[in-house]
Amino acid sequence: MDFKAYYANQQKLVENYLKNRIAKKGISKVDEAMEYSLMAGGKRIRPILLMAAAEAVGSKGYNYLPVACGLEMIHTYSLIHDDLPCMDDDDYRRGRLTNHKVFGEAMAVLAGDGLLTLAFEVMLEQKNVDPKVLIETVRDMVGGQGLDLEFEGKKITPEELRKLHAGKTGALFIAAIRGGAHLAGANDQQLLALTKFADLLGLAFQITDDILDVEGTEEELGKPVGSDAKNHKSTYVTLYGLQAAHELAEKTVAEALECLEMFGENAEPLREITRLMTDRKK
Ligand code: IPE
Ligand code: IPE
Ligand code: MG
Ligand code: MG
Ligand code: MG
Repeated sequence: MDFKAYYANQQKLVENYLKNRIAKKGISKVDEAMEYSLMAGGKRIRPILLMAAAEAVGSKGYNYLPVACGLEMIHTYSLIHDDLPCMDDDDYRRGRLTNHKVFGEAMAVLAGDGLLTLAFEVMLEQKNVDPKVLIETVRDMVGGQGLDLEFEGKKITPEELRKLHAGKTGALFIAAIRGGAHLAGANDQQLLALTKFADLLGLAFQITDDILDVEGTEEELGKPVGSDAKNHKSTYVTLYGLQAAHELAEKTVAEALECLEMFGENAEPLREITRLMTDRKK
């Protein structure tokens, strides 16, 4: 398959959907702040994964754009809050000034609140969606962010680090992949395999995010490097070192690919996305 074209096409579907949904303006400047961060680009990997998971079980991904894009709104809200001075205190995101740098801290908090609320409004427009699955995983993401703060400056165990990453990043990957598969009518065996896949993919993604915070460039990432060191974060790099972190990411990707063995040609987009995990630059 022409994966580059596939990804660009899926991105365009997501961009258009988001643009339409954010167009309706409310009564205050908070709408502008929401749009500022949501429409700043970003890889859109979570909605694309949701659609690819639906495709893996033989459905058409674009049928599930409401839930896919709702998830991207939740992700964007988490980034706005993650960058606040009381959290990671970062100045750049998606290649532009962070939300609070432009609109002020209070407005940035509200922009996050607004995106989270809009996300559920949009997702509930999807036919046959089970909101329970989605709500649970969002709670795990918030829990993971909580651990991320609690573990600052601490010497933690590998198990604690795994739990932190499974929450802050894994949860939304699981919501995307499980959500897409579930909506598309996956059976129990497929759901089980895809849930394990999602957990591993989320882990590989976040290990790479930790590595890029050291080895990446601000130009390519669109966000600052060195943020984790500045905040004394516990990461895969601080716990294992760069070399071992790279090896662990590769091993995790290989394990994730194994979970897809029972799926045929339909899972090719998921496989291609998985292969991207470790050699991405942004
Ligand atoms: C950044 O997510 C936050 C993490 C969980 C590592 P992405 O790397 O997906 O950020 P965007 O959406 O492309 O900006
Ligand atoms: C953020 O993790 C995870 C969430 C926003 C849920 P990071 O703090 O590592 O993300 P970046 O590196 O700022 O994108
Ligand atoms: Mg953070
Ligand atoms: Mg951060
Ligand atoms: Mg990071």
